[in-house]
Amino acid sequence: MTEKTGKVSMEKLVSLSQRRGFIFPSSEIYGGLSSCWDYGPVGVELKRNIKEAWWRAVVQGRDDMVGLDTSILMNPRVWEASGHVKSFSDPLVECKSCHQRWKADDLKENKCPACGGELTEPQRFNLMFKTFMGPVEDAASIVYLRPETAQGIFVNFANAVNTSRKRLPFGIAQIGKSFRNEITTGNFIFRSREFEQMEIEFFVKPGTDQQWFEYWIEERLNWYVGLGIKKENLKLRQHEKRELAHYARVCYDINYKFPMGWAELEGIANRGDYDLSQHMTSSGKSLTYYDEETKEQIIPCVIEPSAGVDRTVLALLCDAYDEEPDKDEIRVLFHFHPDIAPIKVAVLPLSRKENLNALAKDVYAQLRPCFVTQYDDTQSIGRRYRRQDELGTPFCVTIDFQSLEDNMVTIRERDSMNQIRVPIAALRDTLQKKLAGEDILVLPEGGKVWKRGGRRGSLRGA
Ligand code: GAP
Repeated sequence: MTEKTGKVSMEKLVSLSQRRGFIFPSSEIYGGLSSCWDYGPVGVELKRNIKEAWWRAVVQGRDDMVGLDTSILMNPRVWEASGHVKSFSDPLVECKSCHQRWKADDLKENKCPACGGELTEPQRFNLMFKTFMGPVEDAASIVYLRPETAQGIFVNFANAVNTSRKRLPFGIAQIGKSFRNEITTGNFIFRSREFEQMEIEFFVKPGTDQQWFEYWIEERLNWYVGLGIKKENLKLRQHEKRELAHYARVCYDINYKFPMGWAELEGIANRGDYDLSQHMTSSGKSLTYYDEETKEQIIPCVIEPSAGVDRTVLALLCDAYDEEPDKDEIRVLFHFHPDIAPIKVAVLPLSRKENLNALAKDVYAQLRPCFVTQYDDTQSIGRRYRRQDELGTPFCVTIDFQSLEDNMVTIRERDSMNQIRVPIAALRDTLQKKLAGEDILVLPEGGKVWKRGGRRGSLRGA
């Protein structure tokens, strides 16, 4: 095991994220906007990798699932039928002294956490953002920014069944932005007012819902572990009756051990036939399904695994963060699973000398079509390795003066810092294998072990 020098904290992650281009405060040059965040050049790759891994696992890799991409603005009647206009609210209290507002559910004592002042009685505060459609700003033109992507799926249930010809049990998945006018935000990207969700609505025959509920809990837990998240940092928590959302019969959260404590990463709910029934009644359109076995029209039940993209980004940043003593310094690194790592390979010429640069550029051009690759020829090689460690880049390829003689380059692995030397002709293939999980010390023909890093770890989860 590597010797630990320090634990991950939100402050460290916020500062590293800004310094290395993962996440910036939104509209920073104007002082930012509370609880809104921008993903930088590295963060956007990390986020895309998460969404792609989810889409591959739950849509493309399965025969019983299709995808959708529905609009953010929907007919306001959707939100009346779904119950969000009436019930999607939090209890809001205000301090009578300093006038700060709080979500009553978050408070441990009945006094203001900021100044200790007396609080008002709780009032329901609807979390949906409103805007106006068209040039007239009146009650008839109000539309909402969706607070969940799920409703876009429910209202398209018949379209999806008719065009995909899927039979029960089957699911519809969607990734997209959602908006909530949260009373209290914070903890970096954990709770924001604009965020992305990855949601599945899995439709099943009534009576089989419990077994599918259990199936999806297991499936979703395994997905996080497969991304490299440590099992001991994940746990399930069942919602008490009083916490259940207005649509849910039962709900479990997959909680992650964030630096501020255990908190929800994903919710898995049994929504019963609530949503389809509500939309049938409200729209007057049939959303039933013909069961060929019983020759009856039925309303399917829905199991909903609903994950947050940004919370998954945060969980992965927390889980992969590491600090190790290294000579007189501290090495900071992210042990990202190779599938998730924003940059897979960095090409580092030892010097900026022209002939070395030409060869390095040539190697870079060979790798770029296959892997997200970064070229870096600034500062010392040690500093460049540290920079790539802080980005979580699994492999660095170093081109040195000997490379000009023997057409070989060095591959350095992030976690163990082991180095091997391989012929340029075998480089792409070797990197492909290492990224797929082969041990760094397994050599291609003509390769040799160059330097042992003295660290035992190899790419976790690979
Ligand atoms: N359709 C069901 C639904 O939206 P939810 O538990 O309210 O359920 C699902 O949200 C997931 O969306 C959460 O587990 C979380 O990952 C993410 N999420 C919800 N509100 C969020 C917020 N304000 N900021 C970031 N992520 C949020």
